[in-house]
Amino acid sequence: MNKKAIGFLDSGVGGLTVVKQAMKQLPNETFYYIGDNARCPYGPRPAEEVVQFTWELTQFLLKKDIKLLVIACNTATAVALDEIRKRIDIPVVGVILPGSRAALKYSSNHRIGVIGTKGTIESGVYEQTLRDKDASLKTYSISCPKFVPLVESNQFNTSIAKKVVFESLQPLTKLNIDTLILGCTHYPLLKPLIQNVMGDDVYLVDSGAETVSEVSTILDYHNIAADSSGEKIANRFFTTGSTKLFSEIATQWLGTNHMLVEKVNLLE
Ligand code: SIN
Repeated sequence: MNKKAIGFLDSGVGGLTVVKQAMKQLPNETFYYIGDNARCPYGPRPAEEVVQFTWELTQFLLKKDIKLLVIACNTATAVALDEIRKRIDIPVVGVILPGSRAALKYSSNHRIGVIGTKGTIESGVYEQTLRDKDASLKTYSISCPKFVPLVESNQFNTSIAKKVVFESLQPLTKLNIDTLILGCTHYPLLKPLIQNVMGDDVYLVDSGAETVSEVSTILDYHNIAADSSGEKIANRFFTTGSTKLFSEIATQWLGTNHMLVEKVNLLE
């Protein structure tokens, strides 16, 4: 039994889609979350820069004495997961492997689409992970660089978002895929719009939900899960950007009335 918090990091608010699942599936656990909203998006940045930013967020969370780290960002998982695992001695979970496993489970025609940021798609990590498991798969990947700014500016329910999603996904609609991986943790906030364009026959994989199942397994494996005894330590949310905007999106998405968001300066 271990009451320490699980740390989540993301370039912004996207990782909250993973935290939302974690709150449901792991009610005894405490979560500390940091969003690097001031430097979001990570998708168009060079890999070395994303590794450096991910390392800075990791160090921040390590100072808060977390017991496990979730890299709740596909771009950071794609380019920094291996490096962060080498540098720290607590378990580190990324979002790409769980999402890929789920897609393989749900696809029956072996035609899988992947959408993500420029960094994630160019890294080729989803195709590699999927093909390592099934070489006969057909994968179709596109980057959707306009999606993250829509979510970060709290415009994910607007007619502009509808138009952008419609236009961005056109290349995928005629490829007869039966499964689409939302390869960016921001994208579940656009899920109704994405489903509408792709049609109900296409299964959308939310890598966040799948990642939490993996977190649960790892907590048990290392015997570090929290139980329901004693008082639970409160969740904490940190951002390098605007606490107001973060809190507006987070309260909507997590369905809470009020949320204390703490401003962080990583250079301190
Ligand atoms: C981004 O910062 O560009 C998106 C983060 C992600 O890939 O999940």
